[in-house]
Amino acid sequence: MADFNSEFWHWYIAIITVISILACVWLVRWMTSGYEKTDEVESTGHVWDGDLSELNNPLPRWWLGLFYITLAFGGFYLLLYPGLGSFEGFLKWTSKGQYEQEVTLMEAEVGPLFAKYQQTPILDLIKDPDALKVGERLYLNYCSTCHGSDARGARGYPNLRDGDWLWGGDPSNIKTTILNGRIAAMPGWEAALGGQSGVDEVTQYILRLSDRATIDELADKGKAKYDIFCVACHGPEGKGNVAMGAPNLTDDIWLYGGSITRISESLVKGRNGQMPAFSEFLGEAKVHLLAAYVYGLSQEN
Ligand code: HEC
Ligand code: HEC
Repeated sequence: MADFNSEFWHWYIAIITVISILACVWLVRWMTSGYEKTDEVESTGHVWDGDLSELNNPLPRWWLGLFYITLAFGGFYLLLYPGLGSFEGFLKWTSKGQYEQEVTLMEAEVGPLFAKYQQTPILDLIKDPDALKVGERLYLNYCSTCHGSDARGARGYPNLRDGDWLWGGDPSNIKTTILNGRIAAMPGWEAALGGQSGVDEVTQYILRLSDRATIDELADKGKAKYDIFCVACHGPEGKGNVAMGAPNLTDDIWLYGGSITRISESLVKGRNGQMPAFSEFLGEAKVHLLAAYVYGLSQEN
């Protein structure tokens, strides 16, 4: 064990452990020796409730035997497994070694299955209930913390079932998203829009884009600003752009909320959602299955 930073701790622990075990042996022997084999049972002299007296019997043999067996077990265990300071034990067992052994076994078992799935196009995988079941399990393990166990997301974490996509909903888009991750980059706009009044105007225009009642005078001014600052990413009609992960602003689906307060908060603070990359962590075969699972969810509606 390289966990000790000096020899001292190795000896400190090893010596205290050995002394403790020997002391237990001595204690058991001391407490159980000195009994004469007689039919008379000695009383300790303690009496309760008038006639309940405490007798001083020796421990039954089987009980005593159990003490010795536990002590012997402890001794053998420390010879075979790590425990005595930095002594690694004659079996050379390590938790890392055991983990690696189990992973190798597991890979040998499921490797061919994943390899087969990886060769299957996503459009076919979504018709294979077994593949989707594996995909679901992977999803619950690795994705549900952010996207929710029902994949309906939360504020800032997109709903994966609604058929509305920031980064595109084709099987290949989804797979790229999971493999490489995505970083959305929308800076804050307060300064560029001329302070809070500019933010209010553009917010009104966004309400108009999503077909809601507006204060027309403000929305008209907002449109002029939108056409300067926002079209590059959200498009002239506000339909968004999957190449940049810029959301469609005309539908009723909001990543950060569609109320006036939330929209102006998006404009003032900017928004920078990040989807982590999974290619290294999970490998392409698992990502392929996950992409099939997520694509399958979006096809359910
Ligand atoms: C550089 C590209 C870019 C520009 C320019 C840009 N945006 Fe964005 N916008 C984005 C991206 C990307 C997101 C998604 C952020 C995320 O997913 O975290 C976004 C998100 C938003 C949202 C949140 C949408 C939601 O679903 O909650 C609003 C509202 C918005 N933008 C409005 C605007 C307005 C108004 C302007 C112009 C003042 C603008 N954006 C300019 C890229 C841009
Ligand atoms: C740490 C949180 C987190 C985890 C874990 C996570 N995601 Fe995401 N994911 C996000 C965020 C945030 C976004 C939105 C990025 C943005 O704003 O553009 C996103 C976006 C996505 C998108 C794109 C959605 C769209 O509308 O284009 C897909 C697909 C996706 N995630 C799938 C997954 C899968 C599958 C997993 C599990 C392997 C996963 N995510 C794990 C946070 C996470």
